[in-house]
Amino acid sequence: MYQKFLAYKHCRTFQALLKPKECTAGLFLLLVIKSTAPNIDRRVTIRNTWGKGGVINGVKVKLVFLLGITERFLGQPLYQSLATEYRQYGDILQWDFQDSFFNLTLKEIHFLRWFATDCSSAKYVFKGDDDVFVNVFNIIEYVKYFNPDRDLFVGHILYNAIPKRNKKLKYFIPDIMYKNKAYPPYAGGGGYVMSRRTVLQLHQVAADVDLFPIDDVFVGMCLFRLKITPVPHNGFRTLGVPDAFMFDPCLYKDLIVVHRLNPAQIWIMWSLVTDTNFRCAKDEKDSARKLNVNLI
Ligand SMILES: *[C@@H]1O[C@H](CO)[C@@H](O)[C@H](O)[C@H]1NC(C)=O
Repeated sequence: MYQKFLAYKHCRTFQALLKPKECTAGLFLLLVIKSTAPNIDRRVTIRNTWGKGGVINGVKVKLVFLLGITERFLGQPLYQSLATEYRQYGDILQWDFQDSFFNLTLKEIHFLRWFATDCSSAKYVFKGDDDVFVNVFNIIEYVKYFNPDRDLFVGHILYNAIPKRNKKLKYFIPDIMYKNKAYPPYAGGGGYVMSRRTVLQLHQVAADVDLFPIDDVFVGMCLFRLKITPVPHNGFRTLGVPDAFMFDPCLYKDLIVVHRLNPAQIWIMWSLVTDTNFRCAKDEKDSARKLNVNLI
């Protein structure tokens, strides 16, 4: 896998197979979700819950899924079902490369390119995985105090992460791929938020940065070159929350993203977060306090 990665590292341009319509003027927030063809249930869930899009709290929100190719799933080639999904929802952006763990960085640079050409009207971008719960209302509230044409990169920031040198681990990186002792600061890939300016800057600098198999770290390397300091925020729980708090809706009212939820968990949280009759003024502080004790 590593040899293959190094051998193909210079191939950085693949054709788009499916493309959403160009973004329109006045788009406030673009939700960009890394998915794969077989994850149909996750896309259905996101479209029907937090990723609905349209006008939310007075601003325009749009959802796009990023996909590569999956040759076969359940013995079926998936291009036909994807084409049907695309016709119905128009929210799929797919390129002609294999959807594999080591190709996630390819997905990243292709997304940056598409944004620069087709979607730079968007003021802010949330980029994340297809197994997260996102409180879009909180993102809108948070970014409205910023300027989209100034740099902003916010998420769960990891500092001084050390490359895994044990061959058996998923994120193993041999010395020849990365010599330094630690990675530059980077955001957990479960989800982070960027301003338009930062996305465009990342697009420019990415052309000069060698592809690196871990996409979150690759983005960290680009930020480092740009001298953009990623901003840490407690509301990004890319490592998940303890089971005991999973269905504590007050908790979700404070959060921006929670990683590793299945579709059922996302539906339940969505119903709780959008229940306007629900009040948890007192409990809210309580659960946040409990969460801090457990996680920080
Ligand atoms: C990435 O995608 C390309 C094009 O489909 C493929 O040739 C290559 O093997 C993939 N790389 C990895 C590491 O999976």
